[in-house]
Amino acid sequence: MQNIVILISGRGSNLQALLEARLPGRVAAVISSRADASGLSIAHRHGIAATTIAHTAHASREQFDAALALEIERHQPDLVVLAGFMRILSDDFVRRFEGRLMNIHPSLLPAFPGMHTHRQALAAGVKLHGCTVHFVTPALDGGPIVIQSAVPVYPDDTEQHLAERVLAEEHVIYPQAVRWFLEGRLRLNAAGRVVLDGEQRKSTAMRAPTLDVARA
Ligand code: GRF
Repeated sequence: MQNIVILISGRGSNLQALLEARLPGRVAAVISSRADASGLSIAHRHGIAATTIAHTAHASREQFDAALALEIERHQPDLVVLAGFMRILSDDFVRRFEGRLMNIHPSLLPAFPGMHTHRQALAAGVKLHGCTVHFVTPALDGGPIVIQSAVPVYPDDTEQHLAERVLAEEHVIYPQAVRWFLEGRLRLNAAGRVVLDGEQRKSTAMRAPTLDVARA
């Protein structure tokens, strides 16, 4: 059975979705960058070893990343899953785990990298927004895309309503992408391209839940 290590910083709803997805792998550990992350109690409830590597306890990003990498390696992970992990990782860290490091971002990348993606989407006036699972490379929010899901943006949307609509999709596509990886169907090839079921694609999958066109 393959080992997964999940990194969190906060609420942990993606962690929960992954834990409830009955994935064909073992979540060996959950590691948080914050001691007060409520996701830690989700891990405890599922009987999963959970530790905190606090970024505040380290003088530099490199030192934090080195301590984090050491803790991750203890669990010999086949896959490291960033689930709301709010630290930017150094290039060395990313290269160390490249090809087995995945992230979910709450926008249709390459649109709206960085923070406050729902606010950015509303300000830009886009009609479609969504979320993206991607392999992590040194380019922030710029790694090869595995799967995206789109949701409509309504004229009367608030940041919170839009965030909820996107989050519901995150909970669908993240377990899907992790499942593909664990089943050996998904990988990053030497050229840095996503390969799903033996086929090389620029972006492997798109989910579009029913769009309420009348409201949009
Ligand atoms: C999610 O929106 C995820 O896309 C982003 O951070 C948020 C984490 O939420 N990277 P949660 O902790 O999984 O509930």
